[in-house]
Amino acid sequence: MTRINVLFHSVTGHTFKLAEAIAEGVTGLAGCAAVLKQIPELPGIGPVTMAALGDRKGDFAHLPEATTDDMLDCDGFALGTAVYWGNMSYATKYFLDTTANLYRLAAPDQPAQPNPGMFGKPVTVFTGGGNGLASEPAILSVWTALSFFGVTIVTVGARLPEVTDPKRHGGGNTLGAGTFSRTPGTRPSADERAIARVQGRALAEAARAWKERRRD
Ligand SMILES: Cc1cc2nc3c(=O)[nH]c(=O)nc-3n(C[C@H](O)[C@H](O)[C@H](O)COP(=O)(O)O)c2cc1C
Repeated sequence: MTRINVLFHSVTGHTFKLAEAIAEGVTGLAGCAAVLKQIPELPGIGPVTMAALGDRKGDFAHLPEATTDDMLDCDGFALGTAVYWGNMSYATKYFLDTTANLYRLAAPDQPAQPNPGMFGKPVTVFTGGGNGLASEPAILSVWTALSFFGVTIVTVGARLPEVTDPKRHGGGNTLGAGTFSRTPGTRPSADERAIARVQGRALAEAARAWKERRRD
């Protein structure tokens, strides 16, 4: 079984709903399983943000909290973040800044090296935005952090009309799925969920192939 972890930070639930669609895309591929986990909230900042935006964490309170081991103990992972000022959210940044366990010291006098188990591991990134401003740099900020681990980034690409047709533009772009929570209608929209499902499937295909290559 190819195991994919779908890790996300969400306050008002939109990134969570996209995470569900990513997981649907993963489990649509034979032999692939998805596990959803939420990136832990930060006690100081979280409540302030939740009060300002409207806390919907109850919608996914049943999901376990992610640890950085969840990036290691899988064949691939998706990471979803709420967009804050064109960047990853505070909790996602904190989460990624606590990945010391994915590094190891070869010797005390040598620089730390990423765990070889991360090399080439397929990963993909998606976002939940409000008005949709600057969701791409938010994805890039996560890509930059993950690049230190030597992972393989899986993109959405320009393969879908939901992405390429200007009349259908919403959340989601060539880099990754997204949604704009401050626009009318139910969000994520059907198009935004479709993009996320394709992204999840693309991740699962890459992870399944990566796992088989490692067994050879
Ligand atoms: C401090 C702050 C900054 C934000 N910056 C952006 C932004 O740059 N672009 C954007 O589209 N939305 C921005 N938003 C809105 C959030 O992305 C939006 O609330 C989104 O729904 C968060 O995802 P969630 O529903 O999964 O919590 C910001 C919200 C806060 C609190």
